[in-house]
Amino acid sequence: MYLIAPSILSADFARLGEEVVDVIAAGADWIHFDVMDNHYVPNMTIGPVVCKAIRPLTQAVIDVHLMAKPVDRLIGDFAEAGANVITFHPEASEHVDRSLSLIRECGCQAGLVFNPATPLHYMDYVMDKLDMVLLMGVNPGFGGQKFIPATLTKLQQARARIKDYEQETGRRIRVEIDGGVKVDNIAAIALAGADTFVAGSAIYEAGKESDPHRYDSVIAAMRAQLARV
Ligand code: DX5
Ligand code: ZN
Repeated sequence: MYLIAPSILSADFARLGEEVVDVIAAGADWIHFDVMDNHYVPNMTIGPVVCKAIRPLTQAVIDVHLMAKPVDRLIGDFAEAGANVITFHPEASEHVDRSLSLIRECGCQAGLVFNPATPLHYMDYVMDKLDMVLLMGVNPGFGGQKFIPATLTKLQQARARIKDYEQETGRRIRVEIDGGVKVDNIAAIALAGADTFVAGSAIYEAGKESDPHRYDSVIAAMRAQLARV
């Protein structure tokens, strides 16, 4: 039930294809794809053409995290580029319900992303349109930041809301965490309610210590921590 989703933000972009293949071969479940526009967040990364380029290299779910504004026109582009999951920040869309519907209409799973200071009530009236909620453990924009501890309480609150909804409807919603996830805090984060774990620097930096880059031991260490929960 636990999924590990390495963020390619911390990969070596000069060898991105290999970095995607290697991390999945090392036991990761999803590829987390961070889209930044230097407008919604103060950094700029990759767009649909890069998603399209890596799509043929893996069967793994590509989990597109839009940190970009406006949201809607990117949705179709990423769906066409082979994205499986698309999430966005409610503050970046004028019409949250419409953007969520658009993601599903394009054949993808939909999710909302909550910054550290974004209240969870954004999910209240759109539960039926959510396949996932993503809680940020850091402020979005950069890899390698420190996990904000208050996120643990917020994860418990998000999990409680979703549990009620799942009991009422029988429909499952994933709870993903992104930012500051490491081997030494992943168990506490799982205990607080996350089931899907994005990790960028923790995985890709660990791999750089070995030659050729290998990610199996850090992913195994994360799974061992999760097995204790
Ligand atoms: C931050 C991104 C994250 C980031 C996580 O804005 O959304 O996905 O890459 O990186 P780490 O795991 O290094 O905090
Ligand atoms: Zn992300």
